[in-house]
Amino acid sequence: NKVVLAYSGGLDTSVIIPWLKENYGCEVIAVCVDLGQPEDYDAVEKKAIKSGATKAYIVDAKEEFVADYIWPTVKAGAIYEGKYLLGTSFARPLIAKILVDIANKEGADAIAHGATGKGNDQVRFELTIKALSPNTKIIAPWREWELKSREDCMEYATKHDIPVVATKKHPYSMDQNVWHLSHEGGDLEDPANAPKDDVYLVTHTPEQAPDETEYVTVSFKEGVPVAVNGKEGTPLQLLEALNEIGARNGVGVVDIVENRLVGMKSRGVYENPGGSIIMYAHREMEYLCLDRATYHYKELIANKYAELVYDGMWFAPLMSALQGFVDATQQTVTGEVKLKLYKGNIINAGATSPYSLYNQEFVTFEEDEVYNQADAEGFINLFGLPLKINALMKEKAGL
Ligand code: ARG
Ligand code: SIN
Repeated sequence: NKVVLAYSGGLDTSVIIPWLKENYGCEVIAVCVDLGQPEDYDAVEKKAIKSGATKAYIVDAKEEFVADYIWPTVKAGAIYEGKYLLGTSFARPLIAKILVDIANKEGADAIAHGATGKGNDQVRFELTIKALSPNTKIIAPWREWELKSREDCMEYATKHDIPVVATKKHPYSMDQNVWHLSHEGGDLEDPANAPKDDVYLVTHTPEQAPDETEYVTVSFKEGVPVAVNGKEGTPLQLLEALNEIGARNGVGVVDIVENRLVGMKSRGVYENPGGSIIMYAHREMEYLCLDRATYHYKELIANKYAELVYDGMWFAPLMSALQGFVDATQQTVTGEVKLKLYKGNIINAGATSPYSLYNQEFVTFEEDEVYNQADAEGFINLFGLPLKINALMKEKAGL
């Protein structure tokens, strides 16, 4: 029998290869999905084979990730608990989908992953597998084996002839892709500690950022970016361009104590240089282009959408239903947003849209011909009628 393994090239997932062979008597097919984490993929492939895999796949899914996972979430304006831009959350369903495809192709009967039994990632991998391939068996070694620490893993690796490379001193649990970089654990586990400057691997600190402001223009079509500073590109190219601009100006660092689905709170520091510019600019577009009722209702949907993404429900029926709503709202979210970036700050510098609902004729403080101020009296009388009736009742009842 065969097991398909979500493989990163790191120590943990390398150790899983001999462990699976030993404990399940199976052949292991390693699958490494490139979502934009900087790796030497030739070395990853070699390491998988060296660790005992019969075959290793390296799958570049970056464009699909941006176009089919990140952009829909941008349209929704979904942000978890007011801060977290969901960078790990929406990566897991795509990785799991690719694992399922390869498992089908290879005729494998199980899929294994290296997420721990304490986190959200195990849920996201497994819900996706259940949704797409209900009969595939799932193996989560971290919930089964005796290895409890990095030291245990290193010992197991040495015993099984797996190359253990001394990693550089970055003592955090990280997850990186083209949208984000997360840091958890180490001294960050105490929320009283400020992140040290050397936590950040992509983004400059405000102090390191240039002393001059930088302007950036993002063009949107139907809710998603189509150009940066007038230059068109693929979704991936646009995001990469904004990552570079955002990182040098120190924007997009998020520090949050978040509620994990599995019960505990955890503290994470996230770098989203391009993502935070996109989310900001997209909201500016919507301020111009969505009417009040739609905008307010969409805010409710955004919360629910973020929760579903966080919880690994990407392939749930409710997700596609909400996406239908979101997409309908985005038909006129087209135009340009100019932003000023300065030492970690994103500042408005003007927005335009051919579908703008902003109408100066109506809103002006100067004299106008379109709005009859006398209409407001009747409106307020009826809008305030329940308040008035309630107050009359209280007066009469002596409350
Ligand atoms: N707390 C974040 C989330 O649940 C980030 C998880 C990072 N995962 C990792 N394997 N390092 O989405
Ligand atoms: C893990 O436990 O594998 C990483 C953290 C998380 O999934 O929330």
